Amino acid sequence: MNQRSTPPVQPSKRSTIFYLLLLSVLVSLTASCAQKTWDINRYIHALERPERDQHQQPEKVIEALNLTPGMMVIDIGAGSGYFTRRFAKSVGDKGQVIAIDVEQKMLNYNKGELKKLGLANRVRFVLAEKEGPTFSGNNADMVFLCDVYHHLEDQIDYLANTKPALKPNGRVVIIDYYADARSGTLGFSKQHLVSKEQVIKDMEQAGFTLSKEHTFLPRQYFLEFVPTQTKDDGRAG
Ligand SMILES: C[S@@+](CC[C@H](N)C(=O)[O-])C[C@H]1O[C@@H](n2cnc3c(N)ncnc32)[C@H](O)[C@@H]1O
Repeated sequence: MNQRSTPPVQPSKRSTIFYLLLLSVLVSLTASCAQKTWDINRYIHALERPERDQHQQPEKVIEALNLTPGMMVIDIGAGSGYFTRRFAKSVGDKGQVIAIDVEQKMLNYNKGELKKLGLANRVRFVLAEKEGPTFSGNNADMVFLCDVYHHLEDQIDYLANTKPALKPNGRVVIIDYYADARSGTLGFSKQHLVSKEQVIKDMEQAGFTLSKEHTFLPRQYFLEFVPTQTKDDGRAG
């Protein structure tokens, strides 16, 4: 048998290989960070584009929500702040908005825009894990999700976990794109969209009942839910 062993790599060759490997790791890390920053900037641009107002009808949405000064609103997946800014105006200086997102860059942009309006003191920014923060306090009038439901990994658990945030008469509002032709051309695949009927079923499992449906948005459903009353809810003590 040929006992020839593989010649050991020379120290100088070893260090060259090491530096080449290190360089390629650094190059790919820098590239992926740059790509992510660019993607987020593009995402923000898409959320903030003025043409969005045509189908999103934000002023009509705000009017339909019937918010009053002093309210507390939780904006889940607040993104660039398209709705956060409007909520901050509606709740007034005695109210509060909590803007939650999984992307720090979204929160930074959101905060920057609120500062320009002099309203940042009405908003608390929360960077959350994708499972959501632990909600508590029973002091929120509304938990709001616009175009976020389809991003959540476990929608039923996520929404069930928001219950401890809500006042007894609080509500959860979900706006999202129709999972069919009504949503029109989107910049992403429709395969992750969730139908209105499925959202209603999920929410029932999460312990909520549909209380209102607004039908004026052409491309999205707009649903309001309240916690489902259980037999025990009416009992004193
Ligand atoms: C399509 S944008 C909508 C932003 C905003 N609601 C609006 O209507 O302009 C979706 C946002 O949800 C955030 N998001 C995705 N998954 C999330 C999760 N698990 N928890 C909180 N935010 C999430 C994204 O980072 C993004 O900012």
